[in-house]
Amino acid sequence: MSEYLISHTNFNFNGEIPIPPDKSISHRAVILSTFNKEMTKINNLLLSDDVKTTMYSVGSIGVMFAENNGKIFTRGTGIREYIQSPETIDCRNSGTTARLLIGLLSGQKFSTRLDGDESLKKRPMDRVKEPLEEIGAKIETNNGRMPVDIFPSVINGGTINLSTPSAQVKSAVILAALSGNSELKINIEKVTRDHTEIMLNYFTENIIIEQDSLTIIPDPKIINDQIEVPNDPSSAAFFIVGALINDNSDILLKNICINPTRIKFIDILKNMGANILMNNERNVSGELVADINVKSSDLKGIEVSESEIPLIIDEIPILSLAMSLAEGESNIYGATELRFKESDRINTIISELSKLGANISENNDNIKIVGKEVLTYGEVDSHDDHRIAMMLTIASTKCIKDVKILNSGCVKISFPQFYEIFEKYGRNS
Ligand code: S3P
Repeated sequence: MSEYLISHTNFNFNGEIPIPPDKSISHRAVILSTFNKEMTKINNLLLSDDVKTTMYSVGSIGVMFAENNGKIFTRGTGIREYIQSPETIDCRNSGTTARLLIGLLSGQKFSTRLDGDESLKKRPMDRVKEPLEEIGAKIETNNGRMPVDIFPSVINGGTINLSTPSAQVKSAVILAALSGNSELKINIEKVTRDHTEIMLNYFTENIIIEQDSLTIIPDPKIINDQIEVPNDPSSAAFFIVGALINDNSDILLKNICINPTRIKFIDILKNMGANILMNNERNVSGELVADINVKSSDLKGIEVSESEIPLIIDEIPILSLAMSLAEGESNIYGATELRFKESDRINTIISELSKLGANISENNDNIKIVGKEVLTYGEVDSHDDHRIAMMLTIASTKCIKDVKILNSGCVKISFPQFYEIFEKYGRNS
């Protein structure tokens, strides 16, 4: 079991902090590049455990990878020429790999079995199976969980309405439709991150994007041979909050994806009083990108409504910490989707922050937090959830004595250098 001891000091965050490439966009760059029978060059791909899982998975259906000077080159097979994986594909801890692959492989001529680690085996897969079956896929789950068997089938066009507030479910349907027999119109009821749509539009001619719907045209026609991945706002969020809650902090985070479906947490922090500025906005492979400057700020409590949850889904752990140190009361309403993450994040946020003295409680999936000036100290557990481990590390900067994090190694899922960067940029005297 890994553990990380954070010895107490006066913390503040200063300088230009390197943030890793975006995890969601990296998964999609790998998956979409499989459509291209020629070489695709991917710049700034995140080489974390989750993205490597996607690379190994598509490797097992015939896709080739090479690395040169930090760039990844892929050679795909085209969506109709994948080969059957000789073994069960192990999606390990990665929900995104599992959900996107179920979609990608459901319109094939061969069967595939997908499995995962103990955490992934607890996460729901019927949310993907049901809409895919509506368009012709044949899928069996183990009582709604992994392992998942995908049988040969023909994906039909037509119209489908999606109501689950999940980008993974939407992406699975988009990927399945690309191997279908005719156009599929997807009516979107809840706004979630839209990287699949954006990259498909940049990389192929096979999507029409409208206000509340997408139309997917089968058989990807490739129009670009390079994809540039911007840096990850969800990883940046840990250092953004670290700088806000510690006096004498001033940080610059460069080349961060500021897609509106990902930076709602910045609006929320600004409404709490945060001093956050974005400069140098530009477009990278279809995604909006900027440099972000953050200075120490006095935060006050806030209310977050259920409709905002899909847009802050990965930042709720670190926002809960910001609220635990803000003046007054905060409430996050309708956070049910948090129960389906790498851990049940409603439970893990509350149990671990409470151990550090935060005033935080839950009622019917609503989280109530009353802010304090400092936290206590002691031993906490990430429950093998990378975002909980990183949130607790930032929490330790406001603790009055040392903090030990059990099961700390899971940061490699999305941010392999997290602890080194924390030590280097957080301990400025
Ligand atoms: C992701 C979507 C989100 C997010 C996950 C990555 C994606 O999940 O929590 O970390 O890359 O599509 P849901 O959209 O299923 O909530």
